[in-house]
Amino acid sequence: MALLEVKDLKVHFPIKGGILGRTVGWVKAVDGVSFTIEPGQTLGLVGESGSGKSTTGKAILGLTHITAGSIYFDGEDITKYIGKNRSDYRKSVQMIFQDVYSSLNPRKRVLDIIAEPIRNFEKLTKAEEEKRVHELLSIVGLTPVAAVKYPHEFSGGQRQRIGVARAIALKPRLIVADEPVSALDLSVQAQVLNYLKDIQEELGLAYLFVSHDLGVVKHMCETLAIMHNARFVELGPRKEIYTNAQHIYTRRLIAAIPDTDPDLREKNAGRRDLLSREYEENRDNFYGEGGQVYDLRPIGDGHFVAMP
Ligand SMILES: Nc1ncnc2c1ncn2[C@@H]1O[C@H](COP(=O)(O)OP(=O)(O)OP(=O)(O)O)[C@@H](O)[C@H]1O
Ligand SMILES: [Mg+2]
Repeated sequence: MALLEVKDLKVHFPIKGGILGRTVGWVKAVDGVSFTIEPGQTLGLVGESGSGKSTTGKAILGLTHITAGSIYFDGEDITKYIGKNRSDYRKSVQMIFQDVYSSLNPRKRVLDIIAEPIRNFEKLTKAEEEKRVHELLSIVGLTPVAAVKYPHEFSGGQRQRIGVARAIALKPRLIVADEPVSALDLSVQAQVLNYLKDIQEELGLAYLFVSHDLGVVKHMCETLAIMHNARFVELGPRKEIYTNAQHIYTRRLIAAIPDTDPDLREKNAGRRDLLSREYEENRDNFYGEGGQVYDLRPIGDGHFVAMP
């Protein structure tokens, strides 16, 4: 059984207008997406700004209303708990943020930041708590000294580790990681991605890994979902997406991955120009009226494409 199963999820937000503040329209932030995540596996959710990635993550965490659809965690429909305090679900699913600095209370020591979720759920003595925090710090590669410091005393990459230590404090089974490395330097990004993979193996974690960059998620995800205009344009195993992308939007995202090899740069720049022209010319074949993304259709090997 899948750990997480999302079926035809829709999240629409009202647009208020006029002096009466009536609803004059709807923002369709997520408009009919379905996917599953298996225990210990990673689904990459990739798309440009405003495509609905964070809203999808928030729906799974119960942090937004949902307009339609269902979300099953471990076989149980969790949409009935939205807005309510459902403690085992809140333990099992955690999140890590892009902007970790603003999510860490600057006036609290790291010990208190990491211990906070534990205090909400368990009664530990001071000594037990300190021991647990030290263990968590060591999992994310920090020493016990970190516990007595404040967030501003750390680098961006180290702060992200503190955020991760807090997220794993309650032994969750799924982590929604929303652009966890986008704010970090390239050299630090690779380190953070590596230890996210290491703790995944160690703890048997599943990730929903949100990014706008297909380059970043390449080595993280077994499966990728490409999101555009609130829907999936393509979904499939990593290899299929990177070597056999069918939707023009996915192909353009792949062409946009920066080249690490300088010899290839010029050649690929030409390829990108060509693809940009192809995108402009063929776009209409891939979208319905008003830019509507078609329903996904299977094309084999677990690969789905939104085509008419
Ligand atoms: N609470 C809200 N009220 C109204 N509109 C919202 C709300 N949250 C999100 N939206 C809208 O829904 C759409 C999708 O937003 P979302 O944050 O999910 O995008 P995203 O893919 O995460 O983008 P980014 O890459 O910039 O983080 C946007 O048009 C956004 O303005
Ligand atoms: Mg977002």
